[in-house]
Amino acid sequence: MVEEAARASGTKAALNAELEKKLPPQFQQLERRVHQRFDQLADAVKSGTRDDVVKRLAALTGYCVTCHDTYRLDEAK
Ligand code: HEC
Repeated sequence: MVEEAARASGTKAALNAELEKKLPPQFQQLERRVHQRFDQLADAVKSGTRDDVVKRLAALTGYCVTCHDTYRLDEAK
């Protein structure tokens, strides 16, 4: 179940190219990386150790914090 959930947030969940083009380069980079990390987490769940999975999860949540600290969506007035 964990592998499946992680895979669902992997690179296949990346933004579509049209939308991505409208976003700042650093956002795009963070977005791409976080999806890659989810794929790697899914791989680790399948074949890694428990410690490996926990470390990857901790590193992954750093991307959530970094991006949320930097970007906000504002409704167009
Ligand atoms: C590349 C940037 C980026 C990354 C990485 C990112 N987010 Fe977000 N996230 C956003 C933005 C932008 C919003 C919208 C914030 C706003 O409403 O201003 C958001 C909103 C959210 C919301 C609120 C959704 C809602 O409906 O209000 C949740 C929950 C969330 N993110 C969880 C996460 C988690 C968990 C991670 C890491 C696994 C993550 N995000 C990683 C950019 C990111």
